[in-house]
Amino acid sequence: MMKAQTFKRTVKPIVFMTALIPFAWLAYQWMNAYSGLPHGLGFNPQETSNRFSGDWALRFLLIGLAIRPLAKITHYNPLLLLRRMMGLFAFFYVTVHLTSYIWLDLAFAWADLWADILKRLYITLGMVAFILLIPLALTSTKAMIKRIGAKRWQSLHRSVYLISILGIIHFIMMRKGLQIEPLIYAGVLSVLLGYRVKAKYFK
Ligand code: HEM
Repeated sequence: MMKAQTFKRTVKPIVFMTALIPFAWLAYQWMNAYSGLPHGLGFNPQETSNRFSGDWALRFLLIGLAIRPLAKITHYNPLLLLRRMMGLFAFFYVTVHLTSYIWLDLAFAWADLWADILKRLYITLGMVAFILLIPLALTSTKAMIKRIGAKRWQSLHRSVYLISILGIIHFIMMRKGLQIEPLIYAGVLSVLLGYRVKAKYFK
């Protein structure tokens, strides 16, 4: 298998570029839409943008959580080098998601955002998840891990499980009625949580 240094120099940049593809697609479609050219955003571009960015935020959260079990199962630790990047991409796509909502749906009417947070429980939960992600993004650098100490860093970053649960409840509630897609994400998260519990308590 590839050595960690080689992995860092080759696979990591490729994963980085790949993770940017959904954003590049979205930006390209909006450029076309604004220029009056055919685009792939459908008849409700703002809904497409909100949903697309929300989906990718959740996917990166789950990919980030899947890396450690994957490294364990494959006995290939260099995979761990991708964890921070996946977490930061989750934060990036949630930020795009929130921006898309505030810009396209609310046209920057901040009072409406506040009203929505109070009125719609799924927005409240989404906002809580977003706010909880901020300290994780801010403490993602090596210098910050050193500053707060590995132990505290670890317990802080455990909140990513709660954030993922909130993200999925947000998804289930937003879709109204039981739909298959959010349940698939819930199933994936359950497996990851189950793995985590097993690794901790049943060695
Ligand atoms: C960790 C945080 C979050 C995650 C993981 C997340 C994820 C998602 C997902 C997966 C969807 C459904 C997409 C689909 O139907 O395919 C969604 C929808 C939505 N989210 Fe979030 N979200 C988060 C935070 C937020 C925040 C902070 C807001 C706004 C304050 C928000 C507003 C919305 C809205 C309005 C929709 C409905 C989109 C539409 O139908 O137009 N989300 N989100």
